[in-house]
Amino acid sequence: MRRLIIDTDPGVDDAFAIALAAASPEVELLALTTVAGNIGIEHTTRNALNVLSLCGREDVPVAVGAHRPFSRPVRGDDAHGNDGLGGYASSIPSSKATVDPRDAVTLMVDVLTAAEEPVTIVPIGPLTNVALLLAAHPGIKSKIERLVIMGGGIEGGNVTPSAEFNVWVDPEAARRVLVEEDVPVTLVPLDVTMKCAVGDDWLGKLAAAHAVGRELVAMTPHYRAFYKEMSGVDMLVIHDAIAVAEAVSPGIVSTVPMHLEVDCSDGPGSGATIADRRHQLAIPGRRVVDVAMNADFDALQAFILDRLTEHF
Ligand code: BDR
Ligand code: CA
Repeated sequence: MRRLIIDTDPGVDDAFAIALAAASPEVELLALTTVAGNIGIEHTTRNALNVLSLCGREDVPVAVGAHRPFSRPVRGDDAHGNDGLGGYASSIPSSKATVDPRDAVTLMVDVLTAAEEPVTIVPIGPLTNVALLLAAHPGIKSKIERLVIMGGGIEGGNVTPSAEFNVWVDPEAARRVLVEEDVPVTLVPLDVTMKCAVGDDWLGKLAAAHAVGRELVAMTPHYRAFYKEMSGVDMLVIHDAIAVAEAVSPGIVSTVPMHLEVDCSDGPGSGATIADRRHQLAIPGRRVVDVAMNADFDALQAFILDRLTEHF
């Protein structure tokens, strides 16, 4: 059985991703670590605890991570409302669980060290915690099977024309993880997540399935309206759930090896993920990551819906 750690900033689509991991019999969810991103760390941590509780998984440890990016102020947008769950956070019952006394990096190190087999880490927020982990504990890399990261946009961004939100929030951390380190990475960028938005039929089936589905769908109107305003898409974009789907079912997205750079300037390209597509992958020493650029989107949506409806 594949083992997962999710590093997260819930976040409406993070909630769907956490629920998908909790509902997937193929994986064991070992821990959640939280990071500032969609909203401040107090909210992302509280939301992580409460979403796990909603999914009946108060046993999964939750540790608090970075309160702010490496070298930039906290910054966000209003996609997930003023509580991170589209104004619905206080409607979810409060978890009885408390946060793990360890910080996020320490919990990841302890879980990785104790694991008999390498573990998949699924970062679905800014990469601050993961960059800190790799910088402070280089010896732990052998215990990481791969990172399946939701982030970046090869053909363009969402929070700016060139940058995707998770990379834009902490580009220095993203550069460390995507360019400077050598741990195996599958990047799940906007290029696939935007094409896998789900509609009313999908959401209706989820809401009809059980109380967890109803609560997940109840979190979505503000987030969906934000995306409609920004991109014209009147569907639910479940970015982070696509990364978890790939971690649960490796190969469910199709990847292309690419050499990436991250724009760490403060100019109009700040936070952009720039792919070198000039057939120079063979240059020795050049870091290559697998970037998801396509999928059978009907099958992917059906897979996620099946896990969320059938396995709670
Ligand atoms: C990413 O940014 C956040 O708004 C979402 O939770 C997702 O992780 C998409 O750009
Ligand atoms: Ca997220």
